[in-house]
Amino acid sequence: MDIERHTNGEQAALWNGSGGQAWIAAMELLDQVFKPFEAMLAEAVAARAANRVLDVGCGTGSTTLAAARAPGARRACVGVDISAPMIDAARAARNAQGWRPTSSLPMRRCTRSGAPVST
Ligand SMILES: C[S@@+](CC[C@H](N)C(=O)[O-])C[C@H]1O[C@@H](n2cnc3c(N)ncnc32)[C@H](O)[C@@H]1O
Repeated sequence: MDIERHTNGEQAALWNGSGGQAWIAAMELLDQVFKPFEAMLAEAVAARAANRVLDVGCGTGSTTLAAARAPGARRACVGVDISAPMIDAARAARNAQGWRPTSSLPMRRCTRSGAPVST
C-alpha cells in the first residue's frame, strides 16, 4: 500500500472539508490557546539563529508568522499545507499583518513531501 498517498488523501479530505472549516471558524480562539507554543517556537528559532524555517502543516499560518517574527536576522520562512481553505486563511493572515512583498513569506499548498495537491 502507498502509505504516503493514502495518508495525504485522508488528510486532504479532512482538512479541505469539515476539519478545515471548523478550525477556521475557531481560528482566533485556537491561535490564543496555542500562543505559548508560538513563543517557544520563536525562542527556538532565535536561539539557533535559523536562517530558514519550513513549517509543514502550517494551517492558518500563525506558527509560520511567529517564526518569521522571531528576533534575529531576517530569515526565509515557508508555510506548506495540504488544505486549500487553511492555506487561503494563512495567506490572508500574512497579508493582514503587512508582509510586503508577500513572496518573501510564501504559503504553498502542497503535501508534506512537497507534492502538489490536485483536489
Ligand atoms: C492541527 S492543524 C495545525 C495547524 C498549525 N500547525 C497550527 O499549529 O496552528 C494540522 C494541519 O496539518 C495539515 N496537514 C495534515 N496532513 C498534511 C500533509 N500530509 N501534508 C501537508 N499538510 C498536512 C492540515 O491541513 C492542517 O492544516
